[in-house]
Amino acid sequence: MPKIKFYNRPEVPMEMHKVKIVQKLTLLPAKERLSKMKEAGFNTFMLHNGDIFMDMLTDSGVNAMSDNMQSAMLRADDAYAGSETFYRMRDKLEEIFGIKYLLPTHQGRACEHIIAQHFVKPGNCIIMNYHFTTSKAHVTRLGAHVEELIRDEGLIAKSSLPFKGNIDIDKVKACIEKEGADNIAYIRIEAGTNLIGGQPISYENMKEATELAKANGILTILDASLLQDNLYFIKTREESMKDKSIAEITRMIADLFDIIYFSGRKFGFGRGGGILVRDENLFHEMEDYITMFEGFLTYGGMSVKEMEAMIVGFDETMDLDIISQGPQFIDHCVRELDACGVPMITPGGGLGAHMNAREIVSHIPSEQYPAGSLVAALYLCGGIRGMERGTLSEERNPDGTEHIASVEMVRLAFPRRVFTLSQTEYVIDRVKWLYDHRHLIGGLRFVREPKTLRFFTGMLEPVSDWPEKLVEAYIADFGEDQ
Ligand code: F0G
Repeated sequence: MPKIKFYNRPEVPMEMHKVKIVQKLTLLPAKERLSKMKEAGFNTFMLHNGDIFMDMLTDSGVNAMSDNMQSAMLRADDAYAGSETFYRMRDKLEEIFGIKYLLPTHQGRACEHIIAQHFVKPGNCIIMNYHFTTSKAHVTRLGAHVEELIRDEGLIAKSSLPFKGNIDIDKVKACIEKEGADNIAYIRIEAGTNLIGGQPISYENMKEATELAKANGILTILDASLLQDNLYFIKTREESMKDKSIAEITRMIADLFDIIYFSGRKFGFGRGGGILVRDENLFHEMEDYITMFEGFLTYGGMSVKEMEAMIVGFDETMDLDIISQGPQFIDHCVRELDACGVPMITPGGGLGAHMNAREIVSHIPSEQYPAGSLVAALYLCGGIRGMERGTLSEERNPDGTEHIASVEMVRLAFPRRVFTLSQTEYVIDRVKWLYDHRHLIGGLRFVREPKTLRFFTGMLEPVSDWPEKLVEAYIADFGEDQ
């Protein structure tokens, strides 16, 4: 996007779109939020959306569609088999990625399920720059393990490194040597590493990693769910790529991989997913999983209306004006909070602004879920729903002890094209208040703990009456009605 200059003040992030449809929001008073939080078992996933003012849980399936996306939905071709919509989607993806074969799925984790089912055997090793919750769960379910080979500096919370998502090539070499190439089912590169703060990976690093894998006969897979933000960062942060168009960069990345999959809930501004397979034989081998688990081969569990919208969404992803909005709002939020001393994950990445819970509530032990406690407190203090990304999101060790996350964060997602700058300023304001009152926040413990992906539906309780005390302090500053 051309940087819009201001006359007499620093630049502010600028939307290159205008609002055409709105949804009314309500802000419940703090005491009501406290009772909603108790009902939700201090788990922000269990809150009702109507009780939330700023829903920053995720960017998944909640990005704003454009007028062109919505109008495309009208031409959706409803057919169980052979829908014209499918062929339009397949052709659009081939145009963008240069890969001919598309297996449609209902969302990203369905792609992960099918990929794992097809390639992973018990005892296998899967190399990743960093894991994502569902991508790891599908692998471990099948008795294999994940090696996360992110460069050490990627895990340093406060940093100015442009590509904290880069994989450590030396660690990959050592891993291949240790495991043996035959035991490595595939290398999965996540463009825009979700769990370390939406941090991007450079083109150069993807190239090195995939060349090394190929030289050892290892299958290369790209998780392109967060590719949109990563494209923006490659264009704006990677010197050698600054003169390339977004479409050119996308194609250069795609050429490095055997398989590309995506969650269409992020990539494409819609709801769906797909696996692009370069090899025709492999594509046919994998087809059965679609008909068995997802739907017929020409819709894969997706609504054809969403598919039509996504076809337009894929084109919009190639538009720098459009994909700049998210990262620029996130950058604004991160910079403002960082400037006030709030420990944030820096530099700002894609997906959302990430608070460093390990530092903010350093008085809460990891076993009492610092990020889980902080995210619950944030809902109490402003009706803002973020997501815990820390120990609570990990599965326990086989011996039942907690697996302490290497990064303990609260994520404030910025669904693309959804929030205004004044709403962003509100969030910044409430986070600052909460930071100044962080000593009032206490820990949480499980009341009901599911075995798998426990963060989604687990129910917790506070270890003391800290939520009441926090709400009292909030009301003292903002009044009963806020
Ligand atoms: N890969 C990445 C990098 C993701 O961020 C996600 C989802 C998936 C795969 C799975 O896709 O949800 O369509 O099944 N991330 C969401 C989030 C859930 O909130 O970050 P899905």
